[in-house]
Amino acid sequence: MNFRFPENFWWGSAASGPQTEGAALIDGRKQSIWDFWYSIEPECFHHLVGPEHTSDFYHRFKEDIQLMKETGHNTFRTSIQWSRLIPDGTGEVNEKAVAFYNQVFDELLANDIEPFVNLYHFDMPMCMQEIGGWESREVIDAYVNYANTCFSLFGNRVKYWFTFNEPIVPVEASYLYNWHYPKITDFKRGAQVAHNTIVAHSKAVEAFKKMNVDGKIGIILNLTPTYPRSESPGDTAAAHISDLFFNRSFLDPVTKGEYPSDLIDILIEQDVVPTVMAGDLEVIRDNPIDILGVNYYQPRRVKEKEVPELEGTPFMPEHLFDPYIMPGRKINPHRGWEICEEVIYDIMVDLRDHYGNIPFFISENGMGVEGEEKFRNEEGFIEDDYRIEFVKEHLKWVHKGIEEGANCLGYHIWTFMDNWSWTNAYKNRYGLVEVDLKNGFKRTIKKSGRWFQLLAEKNGF
Ligand code: BG6
Repeated sequence: MNFRFPENFWWGSAASGPQTEGAALIDGRKQSIWDFWYSIEPECFHHLVGPEHTSDFYHRFKEDIQLMKETGHNTFRTSIQWSRLIPDGTGEVNEKAVAFYNQVFDELLANDIEPFVNLYHFDMPMCMQEIGGWESREVIDAYVNYANTCFSLFGNRVKYWFTFNEPIVPVEASYLYNWHYPKITDFKRGAQVAHNTIVAHSKAVEAFKKMNVDGKIGIILNLTPTYPRSESPGDTAAAHISDLFFNRSFLDPVTKGEYPSDLIDILIEQDVVPTVMAGDLEVIRDNPIDILGVNYYQPRRVKEKEVPELEGTPFMPEHLFDPYIMPGRKINPHRGWEICEEVIYDIMVDLRDHYGNIPFFISENGMGVEGEEKFRNEEGFIEDDYRIEFVKEHLKWVHKGIEEGANCLGYHIWTFMDNWSWTNAYKNRYGLVEVDLKNGFKRTIKKSGRWFQLLAEKNGF
């Protein structure tokens, strides 16, 4: 074996409630923005497949947890759906949801799989969106109350908590680039959403600490390190700015307790500073996380802005740099994302050297492929050697980072079983386990799932 990992390394996968539970409006759950958006614009979803079924984990979690065992999991992340636990956003708790999540956590624990629980995975309850979503202070309070409810209901079973998954994605997708509902394109409102999300996060961390829950709390960030086209001052300045917007905007406040000062300077200069209420900066300062989840899929490459924006165009970060497509880059054609394995090592070194060597784990990394059924073998399972290679090549760099002192505690693949992925629906498959939509969501372990079991058993490869 060439790559042996530290003892008690976390091997597992990540998923989310809205992408796997199904049972959309069953047992008291109410709409999230996804259910609502699908009801008004189903054509925005690949093959018109919406969030109503999503793999049916709600009914099949026992079978699924056995498959997790068979694929070597010692840890598994999912998320609680706010719209299931507290269907009206605030107020009454849905007892059927409590029973469901308790059964899931118990079943995981009975199978020696540590549950990691995230509280928010892009899934704003529709009633909360109606009062302003993350632009509203009322929603911050409602979220903190929801987080508190989760800690007190499940804190005896769950030891690893995460406030948000990729909180920058709703900023980009719903407030900057017109990808997701409510499809607003307004940087200042996006900045408000980002700031309010960070306040909500910090207040949830504060509540967790006050409650003295026996466990750790953190956040999951998608880090997309930025590389300049060249070492020229224009290109490196462009990369620095892009890094401020897309990585350090969240990473710095949750770890160091403050926003990068050069990011604030840019917002002031562009006249897009969000409203900051009394006490916000203090709550951010006083509540650093215990642990960080790092989702890594792809780097970002930029160059100096070539043609300046027209005077008066509403501000967007891309006014300060241009995207750069590196010649000869390796790409996953199904997703259009660059594959560059060593970037995962650069993230680890950055966390080691500039973020106090904070404990972290790779909380998502994976490869989405369309049309995987063509790789089915005579025995009836999918031979996804490309996925095994993808994971191995990343793990080699993770191993190197650990050897050089980075504080990495585990590796979670995205994802356990093929699942519904927002507007891409079931287009690209990421699972260790196939979900056959034509056969009642039948589950079959792929070659990568079998390989992952050996990886976990041997603690290396
Ligand atoms: C991650 C998200 O960014 O990417 C997941 O946390 C998502 O929720 C995954 O499913 C893959 O996304 P996509 O768009 O390729 O299906």
